[in-house]
Amino acid sequence: MISPIRSSALRSLNNNSKRLFSSNLPLLKSTYDSPDFKHYLNSSKGANNKSKDFTYFMVGSYGLLGAAAAKSTVEAFLSTMSASADVLAMAKVEVKLNAIPLGKNVVVKWQGKPVFIRHRTSHEIDEANDIDISTLRDPQNDSDRVKNPEWLIMLGICTHLGCVPIGEAGDFGGWFCPCHGSHYDISGRIRKGPAPLNLEIPQYEFADEETLVVG
Ligand code: FES
Repeated sequence: MISPIRSSALRSLNNNSKRLFSSNLPLLKSTYDSPDFKHYLNSSKGANNKSKDFTYFMVGSYGLLGAAAAKSTVEAFLSTMSASADVLAMAKVEVKLNAIPLGKNVVVKWQGKPVFIRHRTSHEIDEANDIDISTLRDPQNDSDRVKNPEWLIMLGICTHLGCVPIGEAGDFGGWFCPCHGSHYDISGRIRKGPAPLNLEIPQYEFADEETLVVG
């Protein structure tokens, strides 16, 4: 059994603890001084900005370097694709016509291909025109194959399988391909044999009366 004195003391203690933990009690103010980090926070923010600036600068620099490297790589690649000086020199061939006698052939090399140049006589010009082109395998007027009837300029490549025909040979006084027996006339037109087409006329022009430029 609890004595009245003890019971009273316990009630008092109970009431005090209720007051102590009640939410209605005012908060106890701490006497501890919190350090102020604002200064450090502000300066660290500035450092952060500097760090960002540096990052942007480095990214920009790498971007510029990358662009410069890409440009030089593309230029180097394109320069390998451009024609070299000797190839450009071969793009056109200049021929002095006064060195070719009347009634003679000359063969020049243009872009690795033989080009036949025939200084035709008036008799050969007449012969080239004295034909009914409807009878030809590859009908073509002589006037459509020359710019100046005196000069016949053709690629020296047989239109059958690409052999080089022989000049002043064959049944028609023009060129003969010995590989399979194709005969071309004095205008370079196919007249007999397996070749399907006339000898091809390359691009050319007369720079002046004595100078032919092939290409
Ligand atoms: S390659 Fe000329 S006739 Fe065949």
